[in-house]
Amino acid sequence: MFDLARARRETPSCTDKVFLDSAGSSLPSTGVLETVIAHLRREAEVGGYVAHDERAADLAAVKESIGTLVRCGASNIALSDSATRSWNDFFQAVPLHEGDRILISEVEYASNAIATLQRAGRVGAEVDVIPSDPYGQIDLSALETMLDERVRLVSLVHVPTNGGLVNPVREAADMAHRVGALVLLDACQSVGQIDIDMPALGVDALSATGRKWLRGPRGTGFLALRPGPDEVVQPRALDLHGGEWVAPTEFEMAADASRFEFWECDVAARLGLGAAVEHLLELGTDTVQREISERAGYLRGELSSVRGVTVRDLGEQQCGIVTFTVDGRDSRDVRKALAERNVTVTASGRSSTLLDMTGRDLESVVRASPHYFVSYEDLDTAITHIRSL
Ligand SMILES: Cc1ncc(COP(=O)(O)O)c(C=O)c1O
Repeated sequence: MFDLARARRETPSCTDKVFLDSAGSSLPSTGVLETVIAHLRREAEVGGYVAHDERAADLAAVKESIGTLVRCGASNIALSDSATRSWNDFFQAVPLHEGDRILISEVEYASNAIATLQRAGRVGAEVDVIPSDPYGQIDLSALETMLDERVRLVSLVHVPTNGGLVNPVREAADMAHRVGALVLLDACQSVGQIDIDMPALGVDALSATGRKWLRGPRGTGFLALRPGPDEVVQPRALDLHGGEWVAPTEFEMAADASRFEFWECDVAARLGLGAAVEHLLELGTDTVQREISERAGYLRGELSSVRGVTVRDLGEQQCGIVTFTVDGRDSRDVRKALAERNVTVTASGRSSTLLDMTGRDLESVVRASPHYFVSYEDLDTAITHIRSL
């Protein structure tokens, strides 16, 4: 049984506002906050290295927890400082030559698209866009016709930054694998709100962030690698953590995913991420997914009957991101007006998901993303304020 009162007690800052921005940067629990602060204090007392040694086992456990969360081994997890860093770590490691093709989708996130265009331009590879189907999801039949043996990588977005749809990842990944392409999944908006079974999704790599639905600290993220593609993907750069200098002209690469990590990191933030993941595992990913989805469904349903408001979410399967526009008002103004009424949302602008937003002729959308700690009274308050706009 989900205990909302407890969730709210453990998130003190959710009681003085209506917080609907877990797709942006969520509110960490007290446990996460205390973990981070305690470690910073300890570093100040004994120095970073001693403090690190004291928590070596807990740091190793962070990867165990994340492995449990996405259902792979700790040795398949590389910690980083953001989803974009992790996405790039894998992307830049995929061998790519002139004439090769990379497929992205219409809801590709700007940072991934920019990196793709930049690298493709450098090596003379081609970037093609898989169109969306009428539901806004990746068009599987179009993908089928686009795939050939020149495709090296298919980039999929599990949940886009600008809408509540969930893409059919498994089907797309299977198709890509039939022509020998690798599949990289941007799971930045799904990890923490949707139960993730990486082997069932069938992707080669998955990137995620800590600060959103996982409720971890900023500056955290991870890459999960399917056991196997290690032979094909070598990090673009190794340091003395991802490799070992064994002879004057020789080094050895770490055998596991830690080859994608650098030695220096924010230990406090990583411990905080571990606390956030453990907290989620204790609550149960199914429970969390259900609680988020019910809140988003309620909000979507109520907003769809407000005059002058258009709900913009697409997809056959929808999740915790609710997007809408208000007639005659710029979404950034709506965000500001709601902030003045103590309701936190974000606006997602055209350039973040340029292809999709241009295709739908949208300049920006208001994004409301309620986590499980948001009460239905909070949602009603937000709806009343939106109605008043
Ligand atoms: C779908 C998606 N991918 C990637 C990112 C980038 O995440 P990060 O800022 O942690 O690199 C975001 C951030 O909003 C996102 O929504």
